[in-house]
Amino acid sequence: MAWKTLDEVDLDGKVVLVRVDINVPVENGKVTDATRIEKIVPTVQDIMSKGGKPVLLAHFGRPKGQVVPEMSLEPLVPALEKAFGFPVKFAKDCIGGPAKEAVGALQKGEVLLLENTRFHAGEEKNDPMLAAEMGALGEVYVNDAFSAAHRAHASTEGIAKILPAAAGRLMEAELKALEAALGDPDRPVTAVVGGAKVSTKLDLLGNLVAKVDHLIIGGGMANTFLVAQGIDVGKSLAERDMADTAKEIMEKAKAAGCKIHLPVDVVVAREFKAGAENETVANDACPADAMILDAGPKSVEEISKVFENSRTLIWNGPLGAFEIAPFDAATNAAAAKAAELTREEKLISVAGGGDTVAALNKAGAAKDFSYISTAGGAFLEWMEGKVLPGVAALDQQS
Ligand code: 3PG
Ligand code: MG
Repeated sequence: MAWKTLDEVDLDGKVVLVRVDINVPVENGKVTDATRIEKIVPTVQDIMSKGGKPVLLAHFGRPKGQVVPEMSLEPLVPALEKAFGFPVKFAKDCIGGPAKEAVGALQKGEVLLLENTRFHAGEEKNDPMLAAEMGALGEVYVNDAFSAAHRAHASTEGIAKILPAAAGRLMEAELKALEAALGDPDRPVTAVVGGAKVSTKLDLLGNLVAKVDHLIIGGGMANTFLVAQGIDVGKSLAERDMADTAKEIMEKAKAAGCKIHLPVDVVVAREFKAGAENETVANDACPADAMILDAGPKSVEEISKVFENSRTLIWNGPLGAFEIAPFDAATNAAAAKAAELTREEKLISVAGGGDTVAALNKAGAAKDFSYISTAGGAFLEWMEGKVLPGVAALDQQS
């Protein structure tokens, strides 16, 4: 890891441009989940205690280079003030007159939030002109937006090449946790990959089988693997045209010494709705008019044993249709097991991805995991073994 931390750059008296990800869910003007805001508090407070003046750069939604008033960052000011415990000023543009004036007027003990970087078309194009204009506002650049680091944008990538740059505390924590889980982990390493489709997680599965000792496959994508073994899954969600791909993944895993675990028993129902009448059957006994909606208790037992024999766990994707009870049972039970082993310090557990975090929160297990990433897409790309441009740009600097 070649990037610098906040301890390795001089911030005293400096205007510090901080790229944050405050792309939080908002309903009727109110933030409904402030996790991403809470997670950047240490960075903002650290910069201030080191004598720096934080100026926040961020995106919100996907305005695609237009000024879309509904995607303004201004309504987030009260939530930021509450989290930081400092006054937060706002500038109506992230470059030009409004930004320069606001930076000039910024006092020690205040934070400045600049308007949505994606209101400029140059942001997503990583336009060097836009990066230079943003860069001219400050003296140091800090990237604390791991969850936007898979985007090579002006405020995540371009600007890092212009100013002395460092990782913020959240970025630092994310990178250290992820490195510990997949870079140089304590073995055996187990990955849980669930979710609907194999096709969206091909690169991820391909990368994982080469790196982990056990791969537990759940959710709709497990059905595709069952189909690949010649098993009839009735009306279950499955990508039947991906069966050959699933076979290739199984062969690659075998060659790499990675053991793939599919559900041995499954919970089936005739309707996809909460409380639907259901039964548990062997994985090859799904009735023709039913669909698999969860892994069964024998599968959970096997998963628990794998967890017990692992030192590191990486989790992305639920094991069943976790949104509707009782088809959340396998996800909840496996999550509880991982949480218990983590509390007992027998397991290092890392999870990420929007659905995954929602499922682990619902299971009440997230708080016991060693690390829960704030990232969705960036977490997936990291699991795929891809270089994240926002991180690479910090590396180049040092
Ligand atoms: C996210 O919420 O996933 C990040 O903020 C990145 O947003 P994006 O997917 O619109 O680039
Ligand atoms: Mg996204």
